[in-house]
Amino acid sequence: MSFKNIYEIIKCPSCLQVNSIEEVEEGLSCRSCSSEYPLLDGIPWIFRSPQESLVHWQQSIARLFDYFNIKASESHQALGEAKGLTAQRLETLAQAYEESALQLKTLLDFIFPNDHQTSMNFQFKNQSIESYYFNVFRDWGWPQEENEKCLRPLVENYKVNSLGDLCVLGAGSCRWSYDLFKHYNINQMVLLDINPFLFTLARRIILDGRSIDLTEIPLSPKSIEKCCRKWSLSAPEAIKDKISFLYADGNNLIFNANSFDTVATPWFLDILRQPVDEYIKRINRILKQKGRWIYFGPSGFNKDQLEQKVLLEELIELAQEVGFELEYQQSFEGPYLQSPLSAQRRSEQMSYLVFVKVKNSKDPAYFEDRPQWLNDFSLPIPKDPVLMQKLIESKIYFEVLSTIDGKRSLFDLISLVANHYGMTQEMATQSLVKYFNTLL
Ligand SMILES: C[S@@+](CC[C@H](N)C(=O)[O-])C[C@H]1O[C@@H](n2cnc3c(N)ncnc32)[C@H](O)[C@@H]1O
Repeated sequence: MSFKNIYEIIKCPSCLQVNSIEEVEEGLSCRSCSSEYPLLDGIPWIFRSPQESLVHWQQSIARLFDYFNIKASESHQALGEAKGLTAQRLETLAQAYEESALQLKTLLDFIFPNDHQTSMNFQFKNQSIESYYFNVFRDWGWPQEENEKCLRPLVENYKVNSLGDLCVLGAGSCRWSYDLFKHYNINQMVLLDINPFLFTLARRIILDGRSIDLTEIPLSPKSIEKCCRKWSLSAPEAIKDKISFLYADGNNLIFNANSFDTVATPWFLDILRQPVDEYIKRINRILKQKGRWIYFGPSGFNKDQLEQKVLLEELIELAQEVGFELEYQQSFEGPYLQSPLSAQRRSEQMSYLVFVKVKNSKDPAYFEDRPQWLNDFSLPIPKDPVLMQKLIESKIYFEVLSTIDGKRSLFDLISLVANHYGMTQEMATQSLVKYFNTLL
């Protein structure tokens, strides 16, 4: 059975009651526990602490806005001494940064912070408003070659009548999902993400059929002419029905069990901070029996912990262990964010895996992205290996800073550190230069 609106299949993140959230005049409210959730530009914002999550993004928006303005004034300042083509480039850049600040403010005016609010609740570690800034140009601005090349291996070889009710986790600026919708018969598509820059843009482009101006400033432009460009971001055509956008934490899925025929995770699993085997269990839970999970992304995960640097074969094994059977697999060399303005070209081996759910697995416990003692200040702080490593590093840097006397050079400090800690000259040089660069 399919659902009529997404509230039927989601649980209130506070009281975990299913089908209890309803639209009220000013936003959303839970009938069971009275928690309130806003609608942001028409998109439900359903987090455990909705206000804290919003402040996280407002802080991030304020930082990016400041960054654009700082870069604009740096460019203006440098312009003072510059001549010829350099002056031309700096003037273009100054304008582009000013334009970007204004575009950001205009797009997100409905949540733009009045002053710099602060929050102690670090909601989304490693995620900031500009985290996937360039993806929006690829999705809705650049020539479509890259998007087509990346979807082709799936649509040309994996043929099914329908994907039924589909949920895309970490949908981002949503071009992949949009193209999937165009190629397959889809009953309803739920798009989930946390980033208001990406989703505001995607919603206005896809549902409203709007065109949005955004300036790209590539890191390594091909030429002066290509050091920035204002793109008109738009979709080939609007899709008005069958698509729901939802802001919610993909780490702890708030959907009821057996909600979807298909769950897709395009470039998502590898960026999550929770162990991949646990996450696959969450995907399993929200899928119906015989439902499918479409994995799209890198062929190996680039994570900090060695055991989480999972390769494709391991991912398949882990999925089989939690009740999935592999139905389709394809790896290919594909373009990755290849901007027409940029002198750099990145390609990657990427992969599609399609699994079918053959057995239920149990949902793991709630995933906390930060230690308990940072939520409950009365708890003892354990001697965590990461903290202990930081202690050693801090001791070294404390001693380094204490040796600064107005006479010693960096060479002197490097020799002191190398002798004292038994490091090679090269190791000491690298760590000190890196350290001072982060400080100043
Ligand atoms: C690498 S991007 C992929 C975006 C898109 N799927 C694509 O292929 O272009 C990862 C996406 O996951 C989203 N994301 C990160 N953490 C998330 C979380 N906890 N819950 C939901 N989405 C999250 C990011 O905002 C971003 O849109």
